[in-house]
Amino acid sequence: MKIITGISDMQSFADSLRSQGRTIGFVPTMGFLHDGHVSLMGRARQSCDIVMVSIFVNPTQFGPREDFSRYPRDEEGDRKKCEAAGVDVLFMPAVAEMYPEKPSVFVVVEGISDVLEGAIRPGHFRGVATVVAKLFSSVKPHKAFFGQKDFQQCAVIKGMVKGLNLDVEIVVMPIVREKDGLAMSSRNSYLNVDERRRAAVIYRALFAAKQLAAAGVREPEKLRNKIQAILAEEKGISIDYIEIVDPESLAPVNAVTENMVLLVAVHIGSTRLIDNLLIL
Ligand code: PAF
Repeated sequence: MKIITGISDMQSFADSLRSQGRTIGFVPTMGFLHDGHVSLMGRARQSCDIVMVSIFVNPTQFGPREDFSRYPRDEEGDRKKCEAAGVDVLFMPAVAEMYPEKPSVFVVVEGISDVLEGAIRPGHFRGVATVVAKLFSSVKPHKAFFGQKDFQQCAVIKGMVKGLNLDVEIVVMPIVREKDGLAMSSRNSYLNVDERRRAAVIYRALFAAKQLAAAGVREPEKLRNKIQAILAEEKGISIDYIEIVDPESLAPVNAVTENMVLLVAVHIGSTRLIDNLLIL
């Protein structure tokens, strides 16, 4: 596995692969890799000639009171996981490489960046879209792979690709869950044993609401109440939002129909977790 840290080295290597007609599959990450990331690498491995992974904890997507400095990091473990997954290139730029000066150029996908996570974490999606655009211009992928766990992030990135006519195919892969249903996330490592046990309630609540919808309940309020009631079964869980939205516009729906998405954000102790489920 080749490790590249410089943007211009990354670009020249990508150019040489492209000139040989090889397809590049890209998995952008912030490291502390788990099976969700590994599933993205596996999909990239199946559908592209070369698999590239980036590990970059991007400061511009964290708010001033968020967890940038304590975001979990495990360079050695991540390298091993990438090697085991058959990754060809690991791109690991330093912050000073990605942002040699205070950034003054940003990518903003208006509208869908301002609701849900964006309403609670102002500037978050501007940071995400900007760094993903910079990573795309470094790695020059044909396809890029993202997890549905960050549902709104996927919508923002698709919006950016469409709005800027970027020549990259965005592939969204299903959420990988722990045995008890908790969506895999690097931030799960913040949970203590008791919080980790209680966190399984998030998926239980989403799944119960999905079952209500499958049984014919059409009022979003009823699904929201169901989720709220189940979350209340565990102590110490505070809710940022429970929403049922259209998967593209992310606008709240008046009636539940097929292809809607349930989205939740909660705090368990000092850890903030998000999850979602499609209503099929
Ligand atoms: O999902 C993530 O890990 C990050 O938001 C991403 C897409 C790598 C951008 O920093």
